[in-house]
Amino acid sequence: MTTAMEEKYRAYSQRLCEISQAHLLAFWPQLSERERVQLLDDLDQIDFARCLPLLDTYVRTHAAAAVPQHIDPPPSFPAEPGPTHADLYARARRAGEQAIRAGRVAAFTVAGGQGTRLGFDGPKGAYCISPIRNAPLFQIFAEGLLGTERRYGRRPRWYIMTSPANHTETTAFFAQHAFFGLSPDDVLFFQQRQMPAFLPDGRIALAEPHRVALSPDGHGGSLRALAESGALADMRRRNIDVVSYFQVDNPLVKPIDPLFVGLHLVSDSEMSSKAVAKAHDLERVGVFALADRKLTVIEYSDLPEDLARARNPDGTRRFDAGSIAIHVLNREFVERLTAPAATVQLPWHRAEKKVPTVDEHGRPLNPDKPNAVKLEMFVFDAIPLARNPVVLFTRREEEFSPVKNATGDDSPATTRRDMIRRAARWLEHCGGMVPRGTDGEPAQPIEISPAFALDADDLRQQLTNRPALLVGAPLLLA
Ligand code: UTP
Repeated sequence: MTTAMEEKYRAYSQRLCEISQAHLLAFWPQLSERERVQLLDDLDQIDFARCLPLLDTYVRTHAAAAVPQHIDPPPSFPAEPGPTHADLYARARRAGEQAIRAGRVAAFTVAGGQGTRLGFDGPKGAYCISPIRNAPLFQIFAEGLLGTERRYGRRPRWYIMTSPANHTETTAFFAQHAFFGLSPDDVLFFQQRQMPAFLPDGRIALAEPHRVALSPDGHGGSLRALAESGALADMRRRNIDVVSYFQVDNPLVKPIDPLFVGLHLVSDSEMSSKAVAKAHDLERVGVFALADRKLTVIEYSDLPEDLARARNPDGTRRFDAGSIAIHVLNREFVERLTAPAATVQLPWHRAEKKVPTVDEHGRPLNPDKPNAVKLEMFVFDAIPLARNPVVLFTRREEEFSPVKNATGDDSPATTRRDMIRRAARWLEHCGGMVPRGTDGEPAQPIEISPAFALDADDLRQQLTNRPALLVGAPLLLA
């Protein structure tokens, strides 16, 4: 053992004893040199000052989340403007376009999740999804930025948050694919923090004798990671003041939407959100609501069923604005929330999970029921802290079809289907003919790269002076 390692071990030994976490070094004498390095690295990942105060509030005991006294539907902007909103939407779109042209707007993808449900061996952004080219999710987003450049004359900068578990693979994937037509200088990767899993008595769980059970600290950890990584400072240097946030699993997303950015700007909002109408009363999505007058996302499990089913006098659903994790945030808002002197913090969410661990002899334990507590932060908890937060409805079939599960709902099959359906609608919007099977689905796969067209009107422009297309064979517009 080197002297440096010896010293580090001694320091941890003492510190862990003081904080009743000495078990983390219980297997030290049996570990190989390599395993010791690994364990010390894992310990370095833990922010003990941040974790320990949470033990009494979230692990050993925990209070039920406070239920708001009043839950009301939130104000929102409709997907289609109608006469009352037409002028505002036109003005907003111009403001958004101007901000994009001026280089004030960056894309931000959170890609640090573990993708457990999909079960894909690699970063989720590397998952191949498009119907004809089988392009990976990251490529679709890169092409969205190239399309934005084609249309508005400015290539937005792209911030990508990874986690220690997928950072190296993610950056290697971009390098292998020549950054999908972007330049390496257009993209800034940074890692989020991890949190350990806790056993019910407050001890941090070991996944193996030489590994701490660590997992990323939730998409809410992205705000702190933006600050700590220097990404916010990078934005400041480049005069980027608006951040377009989206998840890595939704290839229908508009990485940068001028209308959304513009409504955010003209509303003087600090954090804005897109919503889609819920598919049914009990759909498992968070809903936007005014909770004691503050715009909030209420998780489906926290919305009382009578409210989930409640109707307005005209029969429409009262709480209909489902959250799809697409936001625009002001850089200054993130700076304020993450400043060392910040007085507010995002809350932690507690989940009891099955976490593989070891017994007192270091033998693996694979629990068949939840045995540990994981803590995560959610980005939507920043909404109530923002000035003038805005909700814009959009159409699900145009902008939201995430890859979450291996099969069934929100799986690669449904996402590909929705990509083809959207491409077919866009072509029909341009006068194209899309033959359909008896099930009503397009008879041939169609793929439109976002580099070629960002939306139906953009496609119409791109196809000007071309004869209307008849989709008699698989069609790729890229
Ligand atoms: P999900 O909540 O769908 O989680 O993340 P996941 O990790 O991708 O998948 P499961 O639940 O393990 O199956 C929504 C988005 O937030 C990102 C994910 O990468 C995805 O883009 N995320 C989630 C992070 O960046 N960090 C996290 O700690 C958690």
